[in-house]
Amino acid sequence: MIKVAPSILAADMLNLERDVQRMVDAGCTLLHVDVMDAHFVPNLSFGPAVVAQLHRRFPALKLDVHLMMDNPGAYLETFAAAGAWNITIHAEIPEDAGALLARLHALGVRAGLSVKPGTPAEAVRALLPGADMVLVMTVEPGFGGQRFQEAMLDKLRALRAMGYQGLLEADGGVTLENLPRLRDSGLDVAVMGTAMFRSADPAADVAAIHAL
Ligand code: DX5
Ligand code: ZN
Repeated sequence: MIKVAPSILAADMLNLERDVQRMVDAGCTLLHVDVMDAHFVPNLSFGPAVVAQLHRRFPALKLDVHLMMDNPGAYLETFAAAGAWNITIHAEIPEDAGALLARLHALGVRAGLSVKPGTPAEAVRALLPGADMVLVMTVEPGFGGQRFQEAMLDKLRALRAMGYQGLLEADGGVTLENLPRLRDSGLDVAVMGTAMFRSADPAADVAAIHAL
């Protein structure tokens, strides 16, 4: 069953508690938090304080923290202490991604590895054993509301063909329209910002996704 991780990047910041509650009421058990540092991506978003407040207010919600940062190594303990369930770093960072994945496990947090559209699956083959989840970016990271890149379906299939047994997650332009193709490509977790927070009936959409 595909799980939905609504991305709060698309939520109403002035009504975040209301919007997150709506996702919980719709049956979501994950919440995706896009952390952007204005260096790794040309945008700036949330910090650890938002993660900590979300964890305090919604302790049962699994916070899937996506670090789009040049130097995530300096913040692993901070986001783990804030209550992250999973912390995802990018393969393209100028740090030892393998060592950071190991540090995340030592912190008792699930370790995620993300690849931008231009990074081939082969480039992360050696890192796969250390990753609980691989986040395949289906748009160029930095902004919500972009067009889904169909070519990324091949990357999901390539990761499975390499024997990757962990969770596969997709992020960017994911909708009910392209989810059947994502499921057929091996997807486990769907990050959905615009499609969930703009939905007229998120509960019906989550039920439809769970039924895929
Ligand atoms: C890009 C962001 C977005 C967001 C979801 O860096 O990670 O992909 O989570 O975007 P949409 O609104 O396309 O689902
Ligand atoms: Zn993300």
